[in-house]
Amino acid sequence: MSTQTALRLTGRNSWEQLAAFQEPRPTAGKHEVLIKMRSAALNFRDIAISTSKYPFKVKDQVVPGSDAAGDIVSVGEGVTGFSAGDKVVVSFDQVTQYGPIKNWENGLGGPVDGVLREYISVPAQTVVKIPSHSTLSYAQWASVVCTGVTAWNSLYGVSAIKPGQTVLFQGTGGVSITGLILAKAAGAKTIITSSSDEKLRHVKEKYGVDFTINYKTTPDWAAEAQKITNGQGVDYILENGGSGTIKQSLDAIAFGGVISVIGFLAQASQDEMPDVSTLALSKAAIVRGIIIGSKQQLEEAVRFIGEKNLELPVEKTFKFTRDQVVEAYAYLTSGQHVGKVCIDF
Ligand SMILES: NC(=O)c1ccc[n+]([C@@H]2O[C@H](COP(=O)([O-])OP(=O)(O)OC[C@H]3O[C@@H](n4cnc5c(N)ncnc54)[C@H](OP(=O)(O)O)[C@@H]3O)[C@@H](O)[C@H]2O)c1
Repeated sequence: MSTQTALRLTGRNSWEQLAAFQEPRPTAGKHEVLIKMRSAALNFRDIAISTSKYPFKVKDQVVPGSDAAGDIVSVGEGVTGFSAGDKVVVSFDQVTQYGPIKNWENGLGGPVDGVLREYISVPAQTVVKIPSHSTLSYAQWASVVCTGVTAWNSLYGVSAIKPGQTVLFQGTGGVSITGLILAKAAGAKTIITSSSDEKLRHVKEKYGVDFTINYKTTPDWAAEAQKITNGQGVDYILENGGSGTIKQSLDAIAFGGVISVIGFLAQASQDEMPDVSTLALSKAAIVRGIIIGSKQQLEEAVRFIGEKNLELPVEKTFKFTRDQVVEAYAYLTSGQHVGKVCIDF
């Protein structure tokens, strides 16, 4: 029997509890494809899962990791449209083809085993082909799965961004920089915030963001965003802080603007919570929770990124060994990164 290396979380106090196991290599069921992993992108979610901070169900001894890019090695007898050799990415949620994800039961690397293993077998209907002409790396494509789709959903999920509109991104992590790249490609004016002037300089030079604000030295960054937009406000905000930043987002948003509530990096205590409903009403703003996105949104994001050959922001890659993956988790937690951290196989 063929075997493979799989990483599993043997406890959830620290990513140091990741351990390597030799396990049977899966095979493709009737409607499945077997994929040889080539790269996995890490997310803040992986850190939260490994440290018991993830607020949703997690399988015992889970194989972590949600974002897979790889090569199909075999297909089940009922599969059409895919064949061995196809380069593919796999949808985060193993069930949702279109519309909103309706529960937290089917996301790879949490409630079900994920992608930090050499081979995965997944339903063919969750797989999207990487455009054949693409020159992007597997790591860049893996980064589309969670981060790219989340950013895509924020910019196109409820109303489509128009050229000339303004988008603000909180922080310089994966979601923000990917969103920045997508928004610039859509012709938007872009603003990014960060705790670090050095990171802001880097984002300006490398990714061409139009305006930068340091949210540590300018805690009222909403006022600055209002100035930048001549008092019109920002049309779209990718809200990564959560309850601790939503007041500023509501102050910065334009009338009728869209705040996508994505992250929970800065939590406010209950007594510091703003009156979100009144603030949203007073701007006719849409405050919209995001759960990644559907297979359809993955397809749309892949097509757009492929057509425009957008260089997605992979900052650092590590190798698929237990020790290197532990290092990658530590690096992501250290907050030194701008963009994505990936594991190459
Ligand atoms: N809802 C969903 O479907 C979904 C999908 C993907 C991610 N998420 C969530 O979205 C958040 C971002 O994910 P990510 O993968 O981009 O994380 P990441 O790569 O780890 O980025 C985190 C960055 O956020 C910034 N940050 C931290 N506190 C902040 C604050 N108070 N205000 C503004 N920025 C702040 C920091 O940027 P600086 O160092 O520049 O200050 C930090 O580097 C996480 O909470 C993640 O769990 C949710």
